[in-house]
Parts: sequence; C-alpha cells; structure tokens
Amino acid sequence: MDAKRVGDSQVTVSQVMMPEDTNPSGNVHGGVVLRILDEAGAVAAMRHSRLRVVTARLDEMSFVRPVYVGNLLTCKASVNDVGSSSLEVGVRVEAEDLTTGDTWHVASAYLIFVALNAEGQPTTVPRLLAETPAEQRRMWEAQRRRERRRQADAELAESRGEAAK
Ligand SMILES: CC(C)(COP(=O)(O)OP(=O)(O)OC[C@H]1O[C@@H](n2cnc3c(N)ncnc32)[C@H](O)[C@@H]1OP(=O)(O)O)[C@@H](O)C(=O)NCCC(=O)NCCS
Repeated sequence: MDAKRVGDSQVTVSQVMMPEDTNPSGNVHGGVVLRILDEAGAVAAMRHSRLRVVTARLDEMSFVRPVYVGNLLTCKASVNDVGSSSLEVGVRVEAEDLTTGDTWHVASAYLIFVALNAEGQPTTVPRLLAETPAEQRRMWEAQRRRERRRQADAELAESRGEAAK
C-alpha cells in the first residue's frame, strides 16, 4: 500500500449558516458545528484511506467564539498521523461575516477515525508522509496525544476495575 502525502487528503468544507441552524437569538447550535466538523474530518480520513471510516473519538474542544445566522462556517481538515487502522485528523473551524469579510477562529478539534473493511472490521490504512517541518511537528504531536489517550484509557479502565485494551 503506497504512502500518501498530507496534502493528498486535506479538505476545506464551507457552509452558510441558516435560520434552522440557530437558536432564537441567531447563535448557531454547537451540534451543527460538530456535525460539519465531523464530516470534514471524515472526508480527509476517507481521502487518505479510500475506505469507509467511523468516528471513534473526539478529543475535548471549546467553542471560543460564537457563530451567527448568515455567517460562512469553514472547516479545514488535515490528517496528522495514522496508526494501523486509525487516523488522527485535526480540524480548524472558522467563521466569516460575509458582509464585512471579518474572519474568526471558532474551535479546533482532534478526531480519531477508524477505517473499516467490507466486513466492518478495522483495516490497515496507508502510511502518512509528513514532508514539511509543520507536518512533521503535527505528526509528532499527534503521536504524543495517542500515547496520552492510551494512558488515560488505561487509568479509566483500572479505576472501573476493567481490563485495559
Ligand atoms: C471504532 C471501532 C470500529 C473500533 O473497534 P475496535 O474493535 O475497538 O477496534 P480495535 O480495538 O481493533 O482498534 C482499532 C483501532 O482503533 C483505535 N481506536 C478504537 N477505539 C478508539 C478510541 N475510542 N479512541 C482512540 N482510538 C481508538 C485503536 O487504537 C486501533 O488503532 P490502530 O489500528 O491504529 O492501532 C468501534 O469501537 C466502533 O464501531 N465504534 C462506533 C463508531 C461509530 O459508530 N461512530 C459514530 C458515532 S455514533
């Protein structure tokens, strides 16, 4: 299986926020942002693997600025690192006031997708080629997060008296 470059799967997804995406004050629901973020991440994961994927995990995230009806919401997704069957995708969410051109950061998140074969079982994905210094830094940081998640899961399993995976 040939390795793929980071740029081969990067994607930008944009959508204008409509009244049905908001509460009565015109603020966009967090769930709407999460759906678009998840879709953008899944597209990047599918482009890298050319397989169907499921979301296995979403790391903690904060909404740092609101989004309003009429704003353009943009999610930029990029594969940071891959394991055997899993992929960490970083997604940056921005909003734009289309009348002024003002753009602001809304949220950022790391999602883990798992690639599945025709039987619905996790299956191997291509290796990721991190070529630029920024891509190599993101890969190294993703590997550290993977280790921290593994430790956190093991501690949680132990506290519940379960066997860790
Ligand atoms: C994701 C899923 C397929 C993993 O199945 P599994 O039997 O636990 O798979 P494995 O233990 O073989 O792990 C497969 C890979 O996924 C990773 N993984 C699985 N669950 C994970 C989690 N919660 N967080 C991070 N990584 C996870 C493993 O580390 C492993 O990575 P690697 O192959 O790169 O080393 C399964 O848990 C599932 O179907 N979950 C529901 C997904 C879904 O429906 N999402 C939509 C939300 S409703």
